[in-house]
Amino acid sequence: MATEPAQAAEAYHPRPMGGPWGLKISGIGAALPEKVLTNADLTAWMDTSDEWIRERTGIGERRIGGSTSGLSTEAAQLALADAGVEASEIDQVILATTSPDHICPGTAPAVARELGILAGAFDLQAACSGWVYGLIVANGLLLQGMDKILVIGAETLDRITDYHDRGTGILFGNGAGAAVVERDTTGAGQLLSWDMGSNGNYVHILYADHGDVLQMDGKEVFRQAVTVMQRSATAAMDRAGLTADDIDLIIPHQANIRIVEAAWKRLGFDMDRTAMVLERTGNTSAASIPLALDHALSENRVEPGSTVMFLGFGAGMTWACAIVRWAG
Ligand code: ACO
Repeated sequence: MATEPAQAAEAYHPRPMGGPWGLKISGIGAALPEKVLTNADLTAWMDTSDEWIRERTGIGERRIGGSTSGLSTEAAQLALADAGVEASEIDQVILATTSPDHICPGTAPAVARELGILAGAFDLQAACSGWVYGLIVANGLLLQGMDKILVIGAETLDRITDYHDRGTGILFGNGAGAAVVERDTTGAGQLLSWDMGSNGNYVHILYADHGDVLQMDGKEVFRQAVTVMQRSATAAMDRAGLTADDIDLIIPHQANIRIVEAAWKRLGFDMDRTAMVLERTGNTSAASIPLALDHALSENRVEPGSTVMFLGFGAGMTWACAIVRWAG
């Protein structure tokens, strides 16, 4: 339930800052709207087939409906409960999204309000790389003395997707994933290294104008995605002094299984160490990596000391890689 402004004002406690730091992801939550759009559903109005979509993308179904603020709030509540953290302890809300509820204002303040938080709250628009950008920014805020930060990735891409378009309509869906990112005073958990980049020369290969749907040059996105994933993962591993064999679990942006396979061939990664939820979510842009993390944690694929790589790429183009030593 929404917190009334007067109550929320009382809930605002500026927090003391400073002290030792590391980073731990102490809670995770996921939210998907109920309505499922399967490949078979799409064949009712599109010249396509379940077999073609699965083979070319790895996607079986996606979710539609909901709002970006609603899905964010649901995922964040689960993440807070998972971490055992009260909303009033949160120092900052970062919401990575490319499909905000409004052009203005940002969606993060509305989510914070629903949670009863009056700490800073802002949207981060880096398309599908957004959640990894958010994690890296959160680490910077921890270094500045914050304690607990919500990093959410959430999308309602059905509002900017033409489900009659064979190139984009087969790919995109809605969802949200949220993480409570905390300063780890034991130092066990760490952001070991990171890489962020962009190349605005490629705006034209994937974009949506105001009031319009996503336009995409699929083949060029595919080519660029493989290139930047390789470059970003290599840069982050080099900075941390790690090789492919040192990474216990890789959580890539869930866009297309063939993009992941092509990049992994170049990087020497294998699918056994890769977290995927693409088959049942489709491409949920900024939500895809925290959704895959939530699933990996539910399958106990991460343990204290694990080295986990988050690897995103998206429209812009943007890309980002973060390598985390898991605190437990
Ligand atoms: N169903 C059935 N057949 C299709 C479909 C479809 N949905 N789309 C295209 N085809 C047919 C074409 O007509 C063509 O047939 P033809 O050979 O007889 O002429 C054939 O399939 C190949 O068409 P292409 O357009 O070349 O298809 P491609 O192999 O490039 O696959 C796809 C299209 C799946 C979109 C691919 O380009 C892709 O995945 N690109 C990356 C897209 C992506 O990941 N975007 C998001 C990443 S960034 C972010 O997440 C924001």
